Amino acid sequence: MLKVGADIDKKLRVIEAFSGIGSQRLALKRANIPHKSIGVFEVDSAAIESYKAIHGDIHNLGDISKISEDEIPDHDLFTYSFPCQDISKAGRQAGLKKGSNTRSGLLWECERIIQKKKPRFLLLENVPNLVAKKHKPDFILWLEWLESQGYTNYWSLLNGVDYNIPQNRSRVFVVSILGEHKPFKFPTSLEQTKQLKDLLEEDVDEKYFLTEEQQKELMYYIQPSDSESYIYIKNATKKGYLKAREFDGIDLAYPNSKTRRGRVQKSRTQTLMTGDSLGVLIGKRIRRLTSLERWRLMGFSDEDYQKASTVCSQAQLGKQAGNSIIVDILEEIFKEVIHT
Ligand SMILES: C[S@@+](CC[C@H](N)C(=O)[O-])C[C@H]1O[C@@H](n2cnc3c(N)ncnc32)[C@H](O)[C@@H]1O
Repeated sequence: MLKVGADIDKKLRVIEAFSGIGSQRLALKRANIPHKSIGVFEVDSAAIESYKAIHGDIHNLGDISKISEDEIPDHDLFTYSFPCQDISKAGRQAGLKKGSNTRSGLLWECERIIQKKKPRFLLLENVPNLVAKKHKPDFILWLEWLESQGYTNYWSLLNGVDYNIPQNRSRVFVVSILGEHKPFKFPTSLEQTKQLKDLLEEDVDEKYFLTEEQQKELMYYIQPSDSESYIYIKNATKKGYLKAREFDGIDLAYPNSKTRRGRVQKSRTQTLMTGDSLGVLIGKRIRRLTSLERWRLMGFSDEDYQKASTVCSQAQLGKQAGNSIIVDILEEIFKEVIHT
């Protein structure tokens, strides 16, 4: 049985703030860590439906800004992958300052909960821009506050491609542990055996393929001869294009952008977002990824996807994948956390 601090034979009591579809809980299951869900905080009704379909029971504590810390049950692990819109490069960068009233500022709602409940383990996840120049001072402020509460923080940027997921998705993870413990080590990378083509569906409806016109917008004005097995995709580098071969990932967003780089990813995809902007080259035609493929790229099983797809629309399912955390990475982190 799991050893939680001095308490042996005890299930890890978990609260998932900003739970989404519950990648956190799935990772605990996969890591074989005995645990009990005490509650989640989530306001998106479609995400709640998917969560219920996948995990069964749910005790939704609702909007994190509306609940008093006195009403929150005791727990051992608190996960908080707070909204990234005001931090991420794609957004307006309104930031996460305390009292800023931004969605990313919801981080500070966790402050009073952590202060009151003092869970032994904390897990933060967010976009890499959180540790870039503009937001790093706030990030450091947060870590210092945690230290003042008795936590030791360990943070790192981890990427799906290093954990056998063919998605170039880098995210910040912070593991915080209260009081004395064995030092935590982030998991070492896993052998890369999966490529994007291994996660693709076989028979995909024609509606996923770009029209000739849409595809042309993405293609460089000169193309290799028909006998070649690749095409040239526009890219904002000196050459002006990147070579794309079958089963390479193609970023479809802003086809006319003059600054977009890394549009072609060899045998893998760019970072999945909440919109429908990732494609793949099949033969010499580009098609969008299906929502099942997007869930697979986040480490969810087809079974989990099927359950969620009975209660949510394709657009909701796509958004949920883009918002979630790669389950395989979390699983490896949790396996290390229990050794501390
Ligand atoms: C980046 S996503 C986290 C996804 C999650 N880690 C998963 O595995 O799917 C952030 C989530 O915070 C939720 N959220 C936004 N405002 C909230 C609030 N005030 N209280 C609780 N949840 C909120 C959003 O609906 C969204 O699902």
